[in-house]
Amino acid sequence: MSVSHPTQEQVDAILWFHSIDLGGGVVTKGLSQPQMPEDQFPSFAGRSVLDIGAWDGYYSFMAERLGASRVVALDHYAWGVDMVARGEYWTECIARGELPDQSRDVTDFWLPELPGRRGFEFAAAALGSKVEPRLADFTTVDISELGVFDVVLYLGVLYHMKEPLTCLERLRSVTKGVAVIETLAVHLQLLEHSSLMQFYGAGELNHDFGNWYVPTIDGLHALCRAAGFSSVQTVVGPPQPQAPKPEPLRARVGRRLAGLERPDDLSAPSELYRAVVHAFV
Ligand SMILES: C[S@@+](CC[C@H](N)C(=O)[O-])C[C@H]1O[C@@H](n2cnc3c(N)ncnc32)[C@H](O)[C@@H]1O
Repeated sequence: MSVSHPTQEQVDAILWFHSIDLGGGVVTKGLSQPQMPEDQFPSFAGRSVLDIGAWDGYYSFMAERLGASRVVALDHYAWGVDMVARGEYWTECIARGELPDQSRDVTDFWLPELPGRRGFEFAAAALGSKVEPRLADFTTVDISELGVFDVVLYLGVLYHMKEPLTCLERLRSVTKGVAVIETLAVHLQLLEHSSLMQFYGAGELNHDFGNWYVPTIDGLHALCRAAGFSSVQTVVGPPQPQAPKPEPLRARVGRRLAGLERPDDLSAPSELYRAVVHAFV
């Protein structure tokens, strides 16, 4: 059976991050669900596209299908790191109460044969795709050599960055039209319009030691502007506020007597969600 007409069995032998329709009823069973719908993207027609952190390439193939003139799919960690070995090391670190040495990703855990790129290569062959894979760490790659693109996708990457502003400056440098940034964001009730970043220094976010900063939507806008983008549009913003539960009369009277005006401030809930913005040059 050739890869141009893959069977579900062939596809299931690969560990997928994305769910990609390969045609003929064969769909990869990705860990990431759901994927972003097409209406959250700008037009790709006739435009050059760079997909940073492409992994299996779902969004690269989407851009190509929607008429992009050229698509480059860039990735690094997901393609080359031995996730199983690293996961075992992280588990040992947690048991010892230590933080992992992240530099081991590109030394002890680096697999030059790039097993994590198998999904991308398989899907590209099955789809007859011309998307160009590019193995590079976006934080260190020579940007002048990478070139500039009309549309740059930065999806699910920002919270993995130790230096988010520097990374957004690099993103701005490779963008000549619009960057689509999708990221975990935090909604802090009663601080809705504050420009803030939550910091996770010890793997508290999804047990992933590679997750660092999570901005509020205003923080995300401010970061993009500081990085040199001229305007920023929210495509997916914070969840709609919940109507506050009415406070029982006894509690309200008790609070007044104790001189407390807004005790809710001390326990205002926060909610993580996935924000999407378009940042224009
Ligand atoms: C959460 S996944 C998101 C994958 C895809 N963009 C999506 O939204 O479905 C994060 C991706 O960013 C990649 N990544 C993280 N840091 C990177 C870096 N410095 N350079 C290139 N890719 C990076 C990871 O390897 C991984 O494929």
